[in-house]
Amino acid sequence: MNDNPAQTVDFGFRSVPVAEKSGMVRAVFDSVASRYDVMNDLMSLGIHRAWKRIFINDLAPRPQHTLLDLAGGTGDISFGWLRAGGGKALLSDINAAMLSVGRDRALNLGFAADVSLLVADAERLPLPDRCVDRVSMAFGLRNCTHKEAVLSEARRVLKPGGRFLCLEFSHVKVAALAPVYDAWSFKVLPRLGQMVAGDADSYRYLAESIRTFPDQERLAGMMRAAGFGRVSVRDLSGGIAAIHGGWRL
Ligand SMILES: C[S@@+](CC[C@H](N)C(=O)[O-])C[C@H]1O[C@@H](n2cnc3c(N)ncnc32)[C@H](O)[C@@H]1O
Repeated sequence: MNDNPAQTVDFGFRSVPVAEKSGMVRAVFDSVASRYDVMNDLMSLGIHRAWKRIFINDLAPRPQHTLLDLAGGTGDISFGWLRAGGGKALLSDINAAMLSVGRDRALNLGFAADVSLLVADAERLPLPDRCVDRVSMAFGLRNCTHKEAVLSEARRVLKPGGRFLCLEFSHVKVAALAPVYDAWSFKVLPRLGQMVAGDADSYRYLAESIRTFPDQERLAGMMRAAGFGRVSVRDLSGGIAAIHGGWRL
């Protein structure tokens, strides 16, 4: 992708040159990889597990279907898909440190034969057109620089009749939740990050990047613009997170 060097993009609340964002995101996940799973539980008080269960259920795993798990990190979605009876999973991520935790988990869980690993940028997938039945992306799109490119790649690699599902933090729709959620995100998370992962900045980035991510309606519009049909949105926990779905028709 040829970026204009003067162009900027959000990195949390900061604007950074487009060419620099992916390196900065990489540094975040290099830093947190080994503590990523425990931090997820602490930060969300375990709620991310319930969101992921709903997400996996929405993926409707079938043994004859293959899954491409984009920004799959340490593998929660791929393993959930396999546990629920899905066919082969391709666990992909741009970050080798995250994938190596995923590889160890696959071995421990006895899934090594059913999961392949791929270091890949979701913005330019080294995969042929129309090769998988489902594409998932959980808490990944927010970190990508060119979100439209990710959506278009997800559609390109899907077989006709295949479905893309995105689980991402979104915009809170229950007014009473907002002050508590803000205090948790901006005051508690960076401190937890410092205590558990020795890294407050990465968790400050997390809270900020959630606020700058497109809201439910905007992301649905971006999916339609990328060519997805029958786009759906399901809010989770009052809109703290949302599942967006779209079909390649
Ligand atoms: C918050 S983690 C989510 C991991 C996993 N899907 C989960 O739900 O636990 C975000 C992941 O996005 C990955 N990522 C960031 N930018 C990416 C890109 N351009 N292409 C692929 N993965 C990317 C990071 O390396 C990281 O593993």
